[in-house]
Amino acid sequence: MKLSKRVLELEASVTLAMKAKSKALADQGISVISLSAGEPDFETPSCIVQAAHKALDAGVSRYTAVRGNDDLISAMRHKFKRDQNLDYDATQVISSCGAKSSLSMAFDAVLSPGDEAIILTPYWVSYPDMVKLTGAKPVFAQPSIESIEQALSEKTRVIIVNSPNNPSGQVLPKSFFQDLMKKLEGTDVWVISDEIYEHLVFDDARHISPASLSKDAYSRTIVINGVSKGYAMTGWRVGITAGPKEVIGAMTKLQGQRYTCIPTIAQKAAAYALSEPPELQTEIEKMRSAYQERRDKFLEEISKIPNVKCSKPQGAFYAFPDFSAYGDDIALAEKLLGEAHVSMVPGSAFGAPGHLRISLAASEEDIVAGVQKIGAYLSPRT
Ligand SMILES: Cc1ncc(COP(=O)(O)O)c(C=O)c1O
Repeated sequence: MKLSKRVLELEASVTLAMKAKSKALADQGISVISLSAGEPDFETPSCIVQAAHKALDAGVSRYTAVRGNDDLISAMRHKFKRDQNLDYDATQVISSCGAKSSLSMAFDAVLSPGDEAIILTPYWVSYPDMVKLTGAKPVFAQPSIESIEQALSEKTRVIIVNSPNNPSGQVLPKSFFQDLMKKLEGTDVWVISDEIYEHLVFDDARHISPASLSKDAYSRTIVINGVSKGYAMTGWRVGITAGPKEVIGAMTKLQGQRYTCIPTIAQKAAAYALSEPPELQTEIEKMRSAYQERRDKFLEEISKIPNVKCSKPQGAFYAFPDFSAYGDDIALAEKLLGEAHVSMVPGSAFGAPGHLRISLAASEEDIVAGVQKIGAYLSPRT
């Protein structure tokens, strides 16, 4: 009996392999400092949990429209208007099962076998496989117009951009998006803009949605966002998408056949969160400023390790230092886990060998202790 060709061609997740090794060490009683988390270490703010309780008590337990219930549709529209001055009507937004599912549904809606999708490096681990599952081919480019120009071909149907970026923490400037959107005018290339870390920007960095830049940009951009990162709601599984009617209509058709709608309680919680009442805004700011403080502490510590270069993360909750002076990143991550007992994700998983992704979704003590252990392992005399 055979499994499908599509599934056999999927890459096994490097992150999950590292997680399994960490667990094996923990099972032996060895305490591992985990700097590999891809999710906030904060609890979901209690006001969001209360909104869900209220919905449960009110007996909210039925299927809703595929795109979401009326509250959630209004909250999504309000969110895009409030944060990026983007006007979408009710047929231009859809909620899905986490941003992951918003993304895979968007790829499914616009890619066909033989097409090409340009993915900017470093990239979030799942993009290449999501593209391959549609039968299209991932093509990689740096986040620069010159590199994108080289990657563009007659087969290009999509460019995926992710700012603030996982894994680098880079926030792409408005000028980059302006140049990109200008370059694409007159083509039939979609832009999928993954803005899941929108809330988490530091210092004077500003998040820009390419959809907001011109009429043409608006008509070719599919905006992906969600509640997972900014509101610490990873397990609630709510992703949101906004874009041109035809794409959202196609995603609605796909979702209707795959899973009808997302859980109704999660819809109610997400509608509340996206409306960002003042008590929630305070919580969002607390989390954002904690990540920023941890980033500063991290940069101070990492600068003490010789031959490691790290650009300053401007957003999200990751740092992505270059450890290439210390050899292959996968072997290094394994050694640092097995011998220094610090877990991180090798850059190869993100298309950037030589780097290690360090999560700032950990306590300041763990971040400092983890980096000191790495330093002591790599340069015992420093
Ligand atoms: C860049 C990026 N996009 C999308 C997602 C998926 O988010 P969700 O948990 O809402 O599916 C993640 C999660 O790690 C991410 O880092």
